Amino acid sequence: SESGCLSIIVLGASGDLAKKKTFPALYHLYRQGFLDSNEVHIFGYARTKISDDDLRDRIRGYLGKDAEHVSKFLQLIKYVSGSYDSEDGFQLLDKEISQHEESKNSAEGSSRRLFYLALPPSVYPPVCRMIKKCCMNNSDLGGWTRIVIEKPFGKDLESAENLSAQIGELFEEAQLYRIDHYLGKELVQNLLVLRFANRFFLPLWNRDNIANVQIVFREDFGTEGRGGYFDEYGIIRDIIQNHLLQVLCLKVKVLQSVLPIQDNEFVLGQYEGYRDDPTVPDQSNTPTFATVVLRIHNERWEGVPFILKAGKALNSRKAEIRVQFKDVPGDIFKCQKQGRNEFVIRLQPLEAMYMKLTVKQPGLEMSTVQSELDLSYMQRYQGVPIPEAYERLILDTIRGDQQHFVRRDELKAAWEIFTPLLHRIDNGEMKPKEYQPGSRGPVEADELLAKVGYVQTHGY
Ligand code: BG6
Repeated sequence: SESGCLSIIVLGASGDLAKKKTFPALYHLYRQGFLDSNEVHIFGYARTKISDDDLRDRIRGYLGKDAEHVSKFLQLIKYVSGSYDSEDGFQLLDKEISQHEESKNSAEGSSRRLFYLALPPSVYPPVCRMIKKCCMNNSDLGGWTRIVIEKPFGKDLESAENLSAQIGELFEEAQLYRIDHYLGKELVQNLLVLRFANRFFLPLWNRDNIANVQIVFREDFGTEGRGGYFDEYGIIRDIIQNHLLQVLCLKVKVLQSVLPIQDNEFVLGQYEGYRDDPTVPDQSNTPTFATVVLRIHNERWEGVPFILKAGKALNSRKAEIRVQFKDVPGDIFKCQKQGRNEFVIRLQPLEAMYMKLTVKQPGLEMSTVQSELDLSYMQRYQGVPIPEAYERLILDTIRGDQQHFVRRDELKAAWEIFTPLLHRIDNGEMKPKEYQPGSRGPVEADELLAKVGYVQTHGY
């Protein structure tokens, strides 16, 4: 593996994402020995004029209970303040990074610079220009400069392409890591293994056996505290176009075979009370809930509806993939009404996979009942910690492994799917249906599911 000095620069260091996700992920990597304090230095950069200790105090509470290790980790962090579009700040930052590199590098060591943009996308272009101009690793000894960015990558196809072009002029695709943290979740990473390492699934994974697939994201809270951001984007841009779509297709080829969304195959919702938030406009049409049916036009999936569903302020917090199989031909036990076979992958909370299947009801009678084969991670892998998505993805950026990041062509294909619908919503052509906070969402969504062939199982 590579050795030498590693500088991790968190831009937007005083913001929410950095505090809640980026620094804690770095701390956990440090605790597990992935960040060697002889090599690593962390820089926080933001506009706020605060001291190193001020920044440390701001993030301390998010790191953990082990005061001694937390303190040691915090000592690795230095803060530099400056604006996002002026050279002065970035030159100062470069000076600090270089000083650290000079103090740490042995003759054969190389310099690695990882820039993590925990920032709103509007400042990506100026920040990238400044990094390119002032802060690249130019060491003769080798090394690299890498840039990590977060969604939203644009607001529609055109703005996303524009952003990609601006950043693409500055950096090679190999230097760019577009994070979608759903790709770092344990059970999402498990999908390819499940699919290709199990004889169970190989012959079944197609239109002949699968009736429909649902990818569902529910939150049991609203947009409290971030209404202003959310209202500009809405649930499709916040969750469906990225997180759920990434789960659907870990391959870009599938994305390019998605047909245009049909007029009668989506339902939009907005929870009652959403507009009471003072940062949300009174007339807002922004959906906080959406169910969208995608159709994949290829040999394997033609005719199988892929239902992407996401909502805020619903009855539960859950993310899952639910694969429903077709009816058993013949149905000699007359048990079809009890429900179909399903394979469910629960991404969170309480990671699990289970299969719904029909068994004989134990006892003297010959009757059937729906039961479950259940693999719950908490029970099966007791004591094995499941890494946070961000932890794993940041480690990948250090190792130079881009497979769990969003490629530029993938991003384009994802925007192509949703842009026509998003434009109609933005134009005010589409009014979301109102739903009660704490409910399942608009009833029209359940009706749509039934219409495209989802058969609800008892007890679900
Ligand atoms: C973020 C969205 O990307 O993902 C949030 O902006 C959402 O609205 C969050 O709450 C959900 O992430 P997780 O990991 O809690 O499912």
